[in-house]
Parts: sequence; C-alpha cells; structure tokens
Amino acid sequence: MRRLVPIVALVVAPLVTTSVLRAIGDPPAWAYAIPLPPTPGAPAAAPDTSLKQIPGSPLSFTRQQISDGFGPADWFPGDHPAMPDIVAHGKRPDARACGLCHYPNGKGRQENAGVSGLPVSYFIQQMNDFHSGVRKSADPRKANTNIMIAIAKAMTPEEIRITAEYFGAMKWTPWVKVVETSTVPKMVSRGGIWVPVEGNQKEPIGVRIVETPEDPERTEILRDPRSGFIAYAPVGSVKKGEALVKTGGKGRTVECGVCHGADLMGLGPVPGIAGRSPSYLVRQMYDMQAGARHGEWADLMKPVVAKLGDEDFVNIAAYVSSLMPPPGAASR
Ligand code: HEC
Ligand code: HEC
Repeated sequence: MRRLVPIVALVVAPLVTTSVLRAIGDPPAWAYAIPLPPTPGAPAAAPDTSLKQIPGSPLSFTRQQISDGFGPADWFPGDHPAMPDIVAHGKRPDARACGLCHYPNGKGRQENAGVSGLPVSYFIQQMNDFHSGVRKSADPRKANTNIMIAIAKAMTPEEIRITAEYFGAMKWTPWVKVVETSTVPKMVSRGGIWVPVEGNQKEPIGVRIVETPEDPERTEILRDPRSGFIAYAPVGSVKKGEALVKTGGKGRTVECGVCHGADLMGLGPVPGIAGRSPSYLVRQMYDMQAGARHGEWADLMKPVVAKLGDEDFVNIAAYVSSLMPPPGAASR
C-alpha cells in the first residue's frame, strides 16, 4: 500500500477538515434486491428429482445436487484448476462451499460477488474484515452477506489463504453486458436476483441499473457458471460515468485509475473493478458511504464515495461494468 499514501493524504485532508458529507440517502434498492417475504401459507412446490443438463456439459445433476451447500454441481471441471476441498465441499457446519455461490470459476452472481482475479492480499483482508465485524451490508436484511460473515468466521487463516490463492489464480473475464435503454421488463427479486415477472410487462428504467441473468433458468435453477448477466442502464449513463471515473467530476469524486489502475483491472493490492457486477459495485460503494464497510483499506475509498448520490452510483457503475463487454455484446 505504500505507493498510495501520498495520493491518499492529498484527497483525504480537505474532506476531513471541512467535512463536506452529503446526507446519506436510503440504500439503492435496485442494487440490494431484497426479496419480498414469502406469502404465508403458500403451498410448497413438489420436489423436482429429475436430472438437469446445461449446454456444453456432458454432466447431469438433480436440483438438490446443484444447490448442495457442501458439494454443489461442478458443470465444467475443465474451466478451472483443481478445487481445494473447502471450495468444493466447504466445512461443516458453517462454511458452505465457496463454489455454491461464487461458482467454481469465481465469476459469482449479482447477489454475491465475483471473486476470481482478486489480489491475494486483498482477498485475505476482506475475509478478516468479515470476521472482525468491519465489513457488513448496509442493509441488515441482506441475508447472504450475513452468511458470508458466518463463513469467514468459521475458517482458519490457512483455509483463507488457500481459497485466496485458488480464486486469485484465475483471471477476471467478461461477464456482464451493459445495455442502455429507457424501458425495462418489470422484475421481481428471487433470492437477490432480478427476474422478469410473467406477462412481458415493461416499465420506465428511472434512476436504476436493472441487472438480470442472460437466461434466468440457467442462472437461478441450474447455476450455470458460463451464463452471465445483462445490466440495463439509463440512456447516456455510460458516458456520464466515464467522465466521473476519468476526471473525478470537479471534486464530486476521485479519479478511480490512480488506485485501481488505468484500466481499472487492479493495481498491486487494490482490487480490479472493471467488468464486474454493477449491483455488487454499488452495494460496496454504498456500504462504504454508510460506514457498514469500514476496514482499514476501505478508508481509502471514503473521499471517493462521500458525495455520491443515486445518479452518480448508476453512472459510475454503468461505465465501470461496461469496460469488459462479453463477445458479441451489442452495446457501446
Ligand atoms: C451463501 C453464499 C456464499 C457462499 C457459500 C460464499 N460466499 Fe463469499 N460472498 C457472498 C456474499 C453475499 C458476498 C458479499 C456481497 C455483498 O456484500 O454485496 C460475498 C463476498 C465475498 C468476498 C469479497 C469479494 C470482494 O470483492 O471484496 C470474498 C473474498 C468471498 N466472498 C470469499 C468466499 C469464500 C472463500 C467462500 C468459501 C469458503 C465463500 N465466499 C462462500 C456469498 C457467499
Ligand atoms: C485513493 C485510492 C482509491 C481511489 C481513488 C478509488 N479507490 Fe476504490 N478502492 C480502493 C481500495 C484500497 C479498495 C479496497 C478497500 C478494502 O480493502 O476494503 C477499494 C475498493 C473499491 C470497491 C470495492 C471492490 C470490491 O471488490 O469489493 C469499489 C466498488 C471501488 N473501490 C470503486 C471505486 C471507484 C468507482 C472509484 C472512482 C470513482 C474508486 N474506487 C477510486 C482505493 C481507491
């Protein structure tokens, strides 16, 4: 972190002395996607014991196997190095297999996090921050972040190092296609993932990014680690975000490239942010703004997020996520 110190001293000092903080708004609901509570008395669906398949994999699994917290399906064993036991099977009772939520290839999903390609020291720091209570969700209803905290608490330093090295050895690759639009399908949150409601209804996008699986069934039910996401963003947001990210927007924020690297792919211990889930990125920026994520290194982000409002979050995330368009993505 030594090379960051002069930059940090410069950006932090004026903010601390004049304490220009905007009144913090409510968490951006689009990014947290808290599901509605289940309807009481709703009939439980009949268990589906049929074998499922996905394109490109010769394997088949039942739904129960696909979502087994201590040994979830590994559809494409050739897509990643051999998984350490804790990634593949977790450790009972509290550490569920990392591969369940983050997928064996570390791509993750909009309701959790992409963990491949992160610097090893950063990854370890985050696990320690979850453990020590300095990294939480600003929305206490975000149940899976609470589970992540329980997982970090259940792990030994050695197990943490092994997972950090496993995921850190894989490069981050394109996963989210950003599409600018003025209307979006009406969505409902299922377990933190936005999926279109039945009947093809549309509504204005407003000040939101609406992230949704490219193929809801392949993500939600089958946990297909090759099936990515679409992020609908307001018309013009990518360009506005680019200006904020590259110039800091006349003091509204701080140019991201000085710490995250010119291409935003990470620099030394600072994580890459390019091409990652916009819902995830905004949850983190908001969590830091609200003080729910305040580890030692997160303090470096304080002056970056202090003055950001809803529109800034949308614009910045639209641009940052658009930096690694998947092959064939039409936008930009
Ligand atoms: C039940 C689902 C679930 C499982 C299983 C899980 N995680 Fe997570 N993980 C999450 C969620 C949710 C977040 C945080 C998302 C947020 O706060 O917005 C997260 C975040 C992380 C982060 C922070 C990423 C970043 O960019 O800062 C790391 C590192 C991580 N997980 C590692 C692991 C490891 C290692 C395992 C296996 C031992 C694991 N996770 C298992 C759900 C899970
Ligand atoms: C002064 C250095 C600095 C600047 C400038 C900076 N960042 Fe960061 N950022 C960091 C550090 C260090 C971390 C890791 C924080 C931690 O360890 O908790 C971070 C973390 C993040 C995270 C969370 C990543 C994750 O995987 O959870 C996001 C999102 C982020 N920054 C976005 C931005 C954006 C967008 C900008 C520009 C508008 C920016 N940052 C500018 C230093 C900086």
